[in-house]
Amino acid sequence: MPTISISPKWKKSLIRWLEDNRGIVVVFFCLPASFIFNLILTFRNWVVRKIHSAPEQHYLRVRDIQAQVLQWEKDGGANKKLLCTARPNWLSLSLTFFKKDQCHQVPIPLYNILELNEADLTVRVEPMVTVGEITKYLIPKGYTLAITLEIADATLGGLAMGTGMTTYSHKIGLYQEAIKSYEIVLGDGSLVTATRTNEYSDLYHALPWSHGSLGFLTALELQIVPVKQYIHLKYIPLKGQKNYCDKIREASGALDKNAKVADFVEATIYSKDEGVLLLGNFADRPPVTEWNKINYISNWYKPWFYKHVETFLTVGESDEYIPLRDYLLRHNRAIFWVVEDMIPFGNHPLFRLLFGWLLPPKPAFLKFTTTPGIRAMTFTKQVFQDIVLPMNQLEDQINISEDLFDTYPILVYPCRVYDHGEHMGQLRKPRPEQMVPGTNYGMFNDLGVYGVPGPVKRKERFDAVDAMRKMEKFTRDVGGYPFLYADIFMSQKEFEEMFDLTLYERVRTKYHANGAFPHLYEKVRPEIDVFAIGKEYIDPL
Ligand SMILES: Cc1cc2nc3c(=O)[nH]c(=O)nc-3n(C[C@H](O)[C@H](O)[C@H](O)COP(=O)(O)OP(=O)(O)OC[C@H]3O[C@@H](n4cnc5c(N)ncnc54)[C@H](O)[C@@H]3O)c2cc1C
Ligand SMILES: *[C@@H]1O[C@H](CO)[C@@H](O)[C@H](O)[C@H]1NC(C)=O
Repeated sequence: MPTISISPKWKKSLIRWLEDNRGIVVVFFCLPASFIFNLILTFRNWVVRKIHSAPEQHYLRVRDIQAQVLQWEKDGGANKKLLCTARPNWLSLSLTFFKKDQCHQVPIPLYNILELNEADLTVRVEPMVTVGEITKYLIPKGYTLAITLEIADATLGGLAMGTGMTTYSHKIGLYQEAIKSYEIVLGDGSLVTATRTNEYSDLYHALPWSHGSLGFLTALELQIVPVKQYIHLKYIPLKGQKNYCDKIREASGALDKNAKVADFVEATIYSKDEGVLLLGNFADRPPVTEWNKINYISNWYKPWFYKHVETFLTVGESDEYIPLRDYLLRHNRAIFWVVEDMIPFGNHPLFRLLFGWLLPPKPAFLKFTTTPGIRAMTFTKQVFQDIVLPMNQLEDQINISEDLFDTYPILVYPCRVYDHGEHMGQLRKPRPEQMVPGTNYGMFNDLGVYGVPGPVKRKERFDAVDAMRKMEKFTRDVGGYPFLYADIFMSQKEFEEMFDLTLYERVRTKYHANGAFPHLYEKVRPEIDVFAIGKEYIDPL
């Protein structure tokens, strides 16, 4: 294939121009293209789901996956390629681009909601069902998933093999705590169902954070919770770092196991000294006298959610009634605050009114159009990390994030991490000082740092790899874990200091994953040489 070569100097000028005029490029090219892309994708998804929609034929489809694994085994010989799902990289929300072409790809056409069990409060689904689809199905019936995600395109299987949490996690914990069972096709083609207590409980505990490196997930059973149609949301502006950290700890129940906590707890930090605490409780439709407090925050012409929240720093403490679906997808339009870096004027009222309905640019579109060059540059000019960290060190988390990345807002979602004794899977037991007194869980939080680091914005020198490795060292030192959908910069040795792979390796051997599926570290580490590329982009463009 002919390639166009551009001199490095020209390349830098071009990138510089694109960066300086990013908003215009995004609005006139990306948004319309993303819109059309999305129409096509929606149609594709509709067709794919139509073809495979037949819950009663679940086991026929699973048998076909088993047959493909057996066939691969028979055909393979000594130098078999390892197995992975055939889902294209650009459809997944993970930020890395795992090299699927080097694997033997097996399609997993499993898109059905299989069974709702209202007596046990569980729902059984196939793994490709999305958050958007399950919310649409459950909310009218009066339920939602106990733990879900604000991004409509995330799949329930992807979250199970990776991890997830929401603003409900201070009550329940990580996504894995709300999984009753996993149905899995193993590397030898057999089908097993793993639960917390059955003969496959070792597998059950190793599956979260395994990223498809132990088998093909074909169904899972998830815990659901009853809901009301509104969230009564309180906005509490807070000043002073110690003060806001204490209030967040208190509100999440980290200090006292008997404290009465809200159904949903979240904080957005706007600077070292200021943050807004959000406390949400399920509520019925308010009386007529309070209808003025109903806010459909997700409508396209409304201010971006984090901007709306920021206004309460000056307005003072307030409350609103948010329709449930609006609340659950509140961060969808501005992808938290990522869109601001793409379209700096995107929250202007006029822009919202005219073009707000085009937001957000589809993650799938962004990934689809990410060339290797863009991929290399973006990780050095952006930070995108969700990290599970102990809440007793919230002040340190925020300070180190400012030192290394100098970007706000920062997102804080409180989350329990349970001490499951010898059944911790890849996680380690919370340390004594991290535990909530008198319970079997520690209080952690997701620290979400997304955006363009301050030095990059100011066109100063920024060593992304160095900053990320320092953040990872901090994370290891305090006993935390980064979500593995984002880029990691650890060596395998450092990775194994952070994650406990003892059970994982045992399970890999016992359940025929060795030689069949890639190892976890190989599966999640960036597909590009981040160290070499990192060096190339340290200096400002
Ligand atoms: C903008 C953005 C914001 C985010 N915010 C949050 C947040 O607030 N809270 C949160 O918890 N997470 C958040 N995430 C991360 C999200 O949880 C992950 O991206 C998650 O992996 C879901 O994505 P997915 O469905 O595309 O899964 P994928 O990326 O497709 O899958 C995840 C892993 O599971 C494997 N896998 C998938 N299906 C199967 C299967 N059937 N069998 C075997 N293996 C399988 C894949 O190979 C992959 O390794 C965010 C991500 C983005 C991009
Ligand atoms: C965080 O930074 C502030 C201001 O720079 C400082 O006063 C405070 O002691 C730091 N907190 C911790 C826990 O180091």
